[in-house]
Amino acid sequence: MGQAPKITVVGSINMDLVTITDQLPKMGETILGQQFQMNPGGKGANQAVASARLGAAVQMVGCVGEDLFGEELLQHLQNEGIDVSNVERVPDQTGTASIVVSNKDNNIIVVPGANNYVTASFVEAKRETIANSDILILQLEIPLEGVQKAVEIAKENDVTVILNPAPICELSADLLEKVDYLTPNEHEFQHLNIEGNRAALIGKVILTKGSEGVSYFQEGKEINIPAYQIDVVDTTGAGDSFNAGFAVALGKGLTVEAACQYGNAVAALSTTKLGAQTGMPTKGEVSAFINHTNVK
Ligand code: RIB
Repeated sequence: MGQAPKITVVGSINMDLVTITDQLPKMGETILGQQFQMNPGGKGANQAVASARLGAAVQMVGCVGEDLFGEELLQHLQNEGIDVSNVERVPDQTGTASIVVSNKDNNIIVVPGANNYVTASFVEAKRETIANSDILILQLEIPLEGVQKAVEIAKENDVTVILNPAPICELSADLLEKVDYLTPNEHEFQHLNIEGNRAALIGKVILTKGSEGVSYFQEGKEINIPAYQIDVVDTTGAGDSFNAGFAVALGKGLTVEAACQYGNAVAALSTTKLGAQTGMPTKGEVSAFINHTNVK
């Protein structure tokens, strides 16, 4: 693969409050769970950390609160080798995600807090950082106007844009047209108004399907890249890991197909440990895994 790309992530930074339980409570019911953990998370920060571990030069653009979580998460990103000069502390609570992991799957409620400060004017002030990147990665845990502004700046400066539309919301055809790659999961794909946005979406959807791998579409045909077989502990952050792997590989000049394969390997390894970032692999770990493992 070629040189490590310069990646900017404009997105969320959360503290994940993770409960592990054998069963889920019904509404109004109290049950006893098995384990509790607090882990660094947020789709933006996760994608930044995964990209940095894969060797990219990563700039994070986002906000944390003036609280203990904010301090901890900022330090953590720095420890991962990420440039945090564009992460600001704001007078709000740091974003949190309440995550329940049950039978290796999860559900998540995010309270954005400080992430809501990543507005269009906040992003405009980071114009130079975005303009000087090879790749811009975005998700939807910050205000949509911040996402739109970042995409606009990237397009004015020939920066490749990857939008991971999670959590899904209504996206304009104008925004979709400017994005180079859109990486929904199957649930998000259902909400994309594929028919209405067909022209804006041609050639840019990379559909992630968990244990079924990913698909991209070429000349009306769906091309499936199968997932790697692995013993799964926790799928939290697998999508983020895929996005990072895909971005880094693309930034190094790989084809879409090869970038999907690389993303699949990163995602597979990330599921082997509990927590979004805990299992995210280094570049060396991915190479070793690819050389010794077969896909389904
Ligand atoms: O994609 C996983 C992430 O979603 C978690 O880390 C959580 O913070 C939520 O943003």
